[in-house]
Amino acid sequence: MKWIKPTRDFGDICPMYIGKFNYDKNIESSLVKIYEVEILYLKIKIAALGTYEIKLNGKRISDHVLAPGWTEKRLQIQEYNLLDELHELLKEGDNFLTITVGRGWYRSPLAGWRDDSRLDPRLSMPPAIAVEIEGSNFSSIDWKVTESPVRFSELYDGEHYDARYEIDFENCVLEDIEECEIPSFELVPQEVGCEILEQDRLFPSKIIITPTGETVIDFGQNITGYVEFHVNGKSGDEVEISFAETLDKDGNFYTENYRSAKSKLYYICKDGEQSYKPKLTFFGFRYIRLDKFPTTPKPEDFTAIVIHSKMERTGWINSSNPLLNSFFENVIWGQKGNFLDIPTDCPQRDERLGWTGDAQVFIKTAAYNFDVRNFFNKWLKDLALAQLPNGLVPHVVPDCQKGEGGSAAWADAAVIIPWELYMIYGDPDILKQQWDSMEKWQNYITNHTEDQYLWTGGKHFGDWLSLELPPPTVPDIRRGATRHNFLATAFYANTTNLLIKAGKVIGKDVSEYETLYPKIVQAFGERFTDYRTQTEYILALHFDLVENPQEVADSLAEKIASDGYCLKTGFVGTPYILHVLSRYNHTALAYTLLLRDDYPSWLYPVTKGATTIWERWDSIKPDGSFQTANMNSFNHYAYGAVADWIYGVAGGISPLEPGFGKAKIEPHPDLRLGWLSTRIDIAVGSDSCYKPIISKWEYIDNQIRYDITTPVPAEIIIQGKTYDVSAGGYCFFSDV
Ligand code: BGC
Repeated sequence: MKWIKPTRDFGDICPMYIGKFNYDKNIESSLVKIYEVEILYLKIKIAALGTYEIKLNGKRISDHVLAPGWTEKRLQIQEYNLLDELHELLKEGDNFLTITVGRGWYRSPLAGWRDDSRLDPRLSMPPAIAVEIEGSNFSSIDWKVTESPVRFSELYDGEHYDARYEIDFENCVLEDIEECEIPSFELVPQEVGCEILEQDRLFPSKIIITPTGETVIDFGQNITGYVEFHVNGKSGDEVEISFAETLDKDGNFYTENYRSAKSKLYYICKDGEQSYKPKLTFFGFRYIRLDKFPTTPKPEDFTAIVIHSKMERTGWINSSNPLLNSFFENVIWGQKGNFLDIPTDCPQRDERLGWTGDAQVFIKTAAYNFDVRNFFNKWLKDLALAQLPNGLVPHVVPDCQKGEGGSAAWADAAVIIPWELYMIYGDPDILKQQWDSMEKWQNYITNHTEDQYLWTGGKHFGDWLSLELPPPTVPDIRRGATRHNFLATAFYANTTNLLIKAGKVIGKDVSEYETLYPKIVQAFGERFTDYRTQTEYILALHFDLVENPQEVADSLAEKIASDGYCLKTGFVGTPYILHVLSRYNHTALAYTLLLRDDYPSWLYPVTKGATTIWERWDSIKPDGSFQTANMNSFNHYAYGAVADWIYGVAGGISPLEPGFGKAKIEPHPDLRLGWLSTRIDIAVGSDSCYKPIISKWEYIDNQIRYDITTPVPAEIIIQGKTYDVSAGGYCFFSDV
C-alpha cells in the first residue's frame, strides 16, 4: 500500500483527505458476478497514522470507531466492503470519499505525565494514510487534501471542531498530496472481532447548578465515550464542554484527578440547528460542565455515548444485597470503560495505558463477565511484540515508556493471562501463540535475579496501593509494605509452575522447569519464614508455597480479625484474599469481608455513590474529601477482581476441565446473603453456541435450596457431597 500525506504541515489541524471518483451506473460490464447475480460493490482498505473517520458522500461507512485502534510495532488495516449500502450512498457522477485523521494513539503524547512525552518523535510523524480501493463502475480515485473542521484532536486533551469549516466538496480549496514512507510498522489485517463500537446511549439524569454557579449535566454513570449535543446556534457561537468523573463534597465539578489531561470538547457553531459528537478521541466521565453554551441547555439536547471493544456479555451476578448488586454493576462498567482496544488502567487522566498488572489481576473476572478471547488474543500478540530480546515485558503494552518493565506481578501477565484464558475457554492455541513469550519472560527472571532460585533485585511496584504502609525510609508509600523480594519470588514460583502446566498442554519439553520449580519453592521457604502483611500470607498460600497451609491460613484469619476485619491488600493481594480464606475453611470470614460496607471494603465506594470501581480503597474518604489527585481514578478495574470469587466460590462455578468441557459447581451459601444467583454462559458444541451455567441458592425456612443448570456434564458438590451429573437442570436441598 502506498502512503500519502499533505505536502505541508497542517500543525494541529486534522487533515481531511478527499478522494473524488466518478460513478456511471450505465457501465454494466464492470459489475462483479456473485452466484450469477450482478452486484455493485466497493472494497476499501485503509491504514492511517492516527484515529480516522471515513465517509462516502458525507455518510459514515462503518460503525467501527477510533480505528485503527492501538497495536505494537504493527498497524491494523481496516477493510470495508460495501454492497447493498452503496445504492443509498452513491450518486451518479462525482462522488467523494473523505478520511479525516486525528492524532489518536499514534501521534498523541502518551504517558502524559512523563516530561518527555511531548518530545516523542512519534508526535512529528505525518498524518498519513494508505488506501486501496477496488470496486465496480468506478473511475480511478483522485486524492487531494484539505483542512477539516476538526481543528485539533488528541487523546488526552480532547477535540476542537469549527463547523464553519464544513466542506462544500464542489467548491472547497483542495491541496495536493504526496507519497511518503512510513517505516517501522508492519501492516496487518484488523484483528477479527476487536473493533470499538458505540454500545449504548445514556440520557442526562439531571442538570445541576453547582454551588459555584456552574451548569453541570449528570449522566448518572461513569463511562468511556463522548457526548453528543444539539444546539440552535449562530455562526461563531461557542460550545465548550469539560468532563469529570465526580463532584466534590460540596457538589462542585472536580477535574484535578485528570492531571495534565485537558479533556475538553470545544465547538464553534455554524448557523442553525446542529448536532455534534467527537469522532477521533474519547473521554472518561459521568458529568459534563457547560463552560460555554449559546442557549439555555435542555436535557434532551445531550446524550452520552458509551464505547468499548466488541465483546459478548457472558456473566451475571444477582443477590439479595443491593449494595453487592451495585458493586457488581460497577465491575461490569469498569470493564466496559477500560476495554477499549487494549485493557487500559483508566479512561480519563493522562494515562489510559495497557498496564500489564491491572490486566493480569482482572483476567479471570474479565473472562467470566464477557467473552474476551478476541480482545486478549490481539493484546497478547502485542505484548509478545513489545517484549525486549532479553525477555523483559514492558509495564505497558503497547509500550510507550521506552522499554521500562520487568516488574513482578505486572510482567507476569505474559504467563498468567494466556493460562487463565486457556482454563476458561479451553483453546490451547492461545498457549501455542504465546509460548515463546511466556518462556522468554520466565527465563528473564532466572537470568536477572541476584540470588539463584529467588527473585531478588529489580524494580517492583510491590502490592500497589496497599493500605499496609512501608517504613518511613521508603519514599513511595504507594508500593505498600509487602517485601518486594517476597512478592517477586512468589510470582517467580507461580510463573514457573504455570509455564510447566502450559508446556505440557502443548507438548513442550518442560523438564528444565520441572527441576527448577521445587528449588524455587524450597528457597522461598528457607528465605521467608514469616509473613508480615496480609498479602504476604495470601501469596504464600495462593501459590502453594507453605508446608503447613492450614496453620498459615488460620494465622491470616487472626491477622484480619486483629486488623479490624479491614482489607489492607493492594492490587496484588486483593484478587486472591477470599480464595485463600475459603480454600482453608474460612468462608464465613470471606463473606464478612465481601459484605462489609465500612471503609475499607469493596462495598464502601457504593455507599459513596460509586458507579465504577475506584483505583483506591479511599478515592473518596469517609469525610468526603479525596485521595491525592495525582493517583485517584474513579474508573480503575483492579479491585473488581473479587467478582471471580463470587462466580467461582460463592456461586461455585468453575471449569473442571479447561474450557468447561466438564464443570464443577460447588456453591458456598451464607445466611447473611440470603440468596445468590450466578450465571456464566459458555460456548458449547461445534457451533460454539453460548449456553448458561446457572448456580442459584436461597435460604428458605430451615433449608437451603440450590437450583443448578448445566449445559455440560458437571460435578455438583453440595455441602461436601459430590453428584456426577450430565447436562440438565437440578434442584437440591440441604439443612442450614
Ligand atoms: C496505573 C496503575 C498501574 C500502576 C503501576 C499507575 O499509574 O494507573 O493502574 O498498574 O501505575 O504501578
